[in-house]
Amino acid sequence: MTFTPVAPTMYVPPTKVAKDTFVIHQVQPALGQPLFVYINSMVILGKEPVIVDTGTPANRKQWLEDVFALVEPNDVRWIFLSHDDVDHTGNLDEAMTACPNAKLVCNWAMIERHTNCFDFPLERCQWVMHGDSFDVGDRILHAPRPPVFDSPTTRGLFDPTTGVYWAVDTFATPLPDPKMAISDLDADFWQFGMHLFALGAVSPWLTMLDPVKYGQYVDTTQNLDITTIAACHCPVIEGEYIERAFNMIRQFPTLEAPPLPDQSVLDQVIAATSTPAP
Ligand SMILES: [Fe+2]
Ligand SMILES: [Fe+2]
Repeated sequence: MTFTPVAPTMYVPPTKVAKDTFVIHQVQPALGQPLFVYINSMVILGKEPVIVDTGTPANRKQWLEDVFALVEPNDVRWIFLSHDDVDHTGNLDEAMTACPNAKLVCNWAMIERHTNCFDFPLERCQWVMHGDSFDVGDRILHAPRPPVFDSPTTRGLFDPTTGVYWAVDTFATPLPDPKMAISDLDADFWQFGMHLFALGAVSPWLTMLDPVKYGQYVDTTQNLDITTIAACHCPVIEGEYIERAFNMIRQFPTLEAPPLPDQSVLDQVIAATSTPAP
């Protein structure tokens, strides 16, 4: 793999993906390749508005602007934390402080793993087990663990009133251009991108799994009545692309882990970005 300098990142405003449901975007250039990675979160504007994941510290100012342009902080009643990775928890403290009426949907393992960098207000927490649901006034949200994940604390989020499924790190893929929709992607590139991220950056243990047992778990997710997949690291997936996406992730236990950038690539990155001594 060789190093290619990349263009600076760009701003993508929030997009409406279903009734009352908006995805908040950050676009991060991939290191050493002319590719881009979404770091998304979501807002559900129901009777009791929900913030789904809290973006990153690098995008703090824009994330707070984007979210609170959609919902008044005092109106937010729930902050759903999918897991304890910094691209999902980056503005947790700021969101909890800005939204005094919000409860934090999390779980025991998340507190055990993340309490070293966030002081969880336990009286504001609601622990949701894998498969549990919680009532947000005008809808019941379901929180099953997605098939591909990189923290044992992970919960996805399914809203049966809109058919939107927040798949967290599942379906992650880089993009040659952040403006591209899934339908714009070359089919082989989409497969390559999902393979690279799932087995190289999210869940390398997928290659150790029994394909039948894992496939049965993928089925339980696919059998939700999903009309729209929104996730942290991919464009929205709808229509015929939902089945294609599930078919791709079902193959992971039968694939080899992809080759990843090594020290020679890091050497190229440093050489290309370092300032010559005067
Ligand atoms: Fe993650
Ligand atoms: Fe992530």
